[in-house]
Amino acid sequence: MCGIIGYIGNKEAQSILLSSLGRLEYRGYDSCGIAVASSSIKVYKDAVRVEPLAKAMPQLSGTIGIGHTRWATHGKPSQANAHPHCDCQDKIAVVHNGIISNFHLLKQKLISEGHNFTSETDTEVIPHLIEKYYDGDLEKAVETALHQVKGSYAIIVLAADETKLIVAKKDSPLIIGIGDRENFIASDVPAILDYTNRVIYLEDGDIGVVTSDEIRIKKEGREVDRKEHKILWSVEDAQKAGYEHFMLKEIHEQPKVIRDTLGEYAQATEPNVDLERIRDAGIESILILACGTSYHAALIGKYIVEELLRIPVRVEIASELNYYGQIPAGTLAIAITQSGETADILRAMKRLKGVGGRVLAIINVVGSSASRIADQTIYTRAGPEISVAATKSFIAQLMVLYWLMMSYSKVDARRLASMLLGLREMPGKVQQVLDNEDKILECARYLSAYENVFFIGRGINFPVALEGALKLKEISYIHAEGYAAGELKHGPFALLGPDAPVIAIVTQDNTYEAMLANIKEIKARGSPLIALAKEEDGTIEELADSVITVPKVDAIFSPVVNTIALQLLAYYTAKERGCPIDFPRNLAKSVTVE
Ligand code: M6R
Repeated sequence: MCGIIGYIGNKEAQSILLSSLGRLEYRGYDSCGIAVASSSIKVYKDAVRVEPLAKAMPQLSGTIGIGHTRWATHGKPSQANAHPHCDCQDKIAVVHNGIISNFHLLKQKLISEGHNFTSETDTEVIPHLIEKYYDGDLEKAVETALHQVKGSYAIIVLAADETKLIVAKKDSPLIIGIGDRENFIASDVPAILDYTNRVIYLEDGDIGVVTSDEIRIKKEGREVDRKEHKILWSVEDAQKAGYEHFMLKEIHEQPKVIRDTLGEYAQATEPNVDLERIRDAGIESILILACGTSYHAALIGKYIVEELLRIPVRVEIASELNYYGQIPAGTLAIAITQSGETADILRAMKRLKGVGGRVLAIINVVGSSASRIADQTIYTRAGPEISVAATKSFIAQLMVLYWLMMSYSKVDARRLASMLLGLREMPGKVQQVLDNEDKILECARYLSAYENVFFIGRGINFPVALEGALKLKEISYIHAEGYAAGELKHGPFALLGPDAPVIAIVTQDNTYEAMLANIKEIKARGSPLIALAKEEDGTIEELADSVITVPKVDAIFSPVVNTIALQLLAYYTAKERGCPIDFPRNLAKSVTVE
């Protein structure tokens, strides 16, 4: 959940570390710090964001350094708990992302051996263990220390007397960026895109020695070759491009994201995803697993599969699947994850693989951990998503699900042809939603004064109600709940009234009449009602207090336009309330803890 960065080269490390940390803040932002070495190690850290830290920091001279931006797990955000952490003599500094599950025992033992600890973190045992084993061979000391450690880690180790950095990874992401007489280490690509687009993805169990002109990687004592990848994202892709927030930029990128994601598969006149490694295994049912927003894409996926493939689908929250649930033979599991690093998903995927399951992954980040576990990966082409709130990655996931399921569809040729046309028109339809910002802004201003909001939908738009509520609560801190419209009367009606607005997603399909009936019931209980409805609906205008119109699309694609309208509604509501939209409190982009 934290972001880590390392630099070794011929330039001053401090400014490179700070600018890269700024790009990693989406991974955690309750505290941060850097350490720079030139014969001694100087550490500067605090429980603040990167910008104030950089402003307050003295000049730390040196061309080797490490940095960290934190999402607290062990110990509250404080200067003492911020990384880097050091050994007793401040000769070894470590930044870490992950969780050391046996840190308590290790800490007790190290204390009994005379080590002094200054933080409540699990991480601090690492520099002390390295100190214990260090006799001039840093790589060996790190390796021995890591043998004692249980849990997950991506670490960078800096030592006062060494002109190298040691890196190691297990169950947390770590990449090495290759430069010209300089090298970079980071949790994620955006951190180093300003300097290089040549990247190596480390694998679990890898320990590397990085100098300014050499990278050596070992696994289980043997040297290994890790392939170099060229990153196709530009620096601009990972920047705000004039938008006030990443989230708004990412919402506005969605017509392009749809084109890029479909463009990957849709040059052909027929849907054509080839499940090359999974296809012939005889798929009798599908299990889709995911977390958060990706879980809502999975729920929509269920409707798509059942309409197009007519085979049973089960959708599971990945963290739940880790503790119960049998996987019948003949089941294809589809794991959906933007980051490919979500701990709950990785664990569920490993469990499925462990019982002989076949796993197809839908991922946005190339080379991420999930792609290495899956039997086959289909990449969404959303580009880097920086804002903690998932927007464009969700729409890209839907595009892959539509295209994948259309590839194996059992519907007749006419229906398929009309769906193909519908998909091709989608970027234009989405643009129409984006052009309707004024009306959405007006509704957002209205909504921003409330503390409780309900979202309701039916059928394929029930998950959209869940996603609308998640987006609103996540960035505006308004308590919001998504409900199947028919469920409100089974309990939540007790909460309706003038203080509890309802957002109703009304689609022109077989749920339409039932939705109108629900809206009347809600109005009779005094709740303000905002409807999301197709342009020229005609009826809704008389029932709702306000209507956000969305363009007419085939009902199966209605989650796309509806969700994007709700993303904008959440964004402008949060903006109206003055919230830190891209970095909501207590959250992080990539949730690498269970
Ligand atoms: O990277 P993933 O898709 O696996 O992430 C899953 C969730 O953590 C993520 O969607 C989260 O719910 C978002 N912040 C919601 O906007």
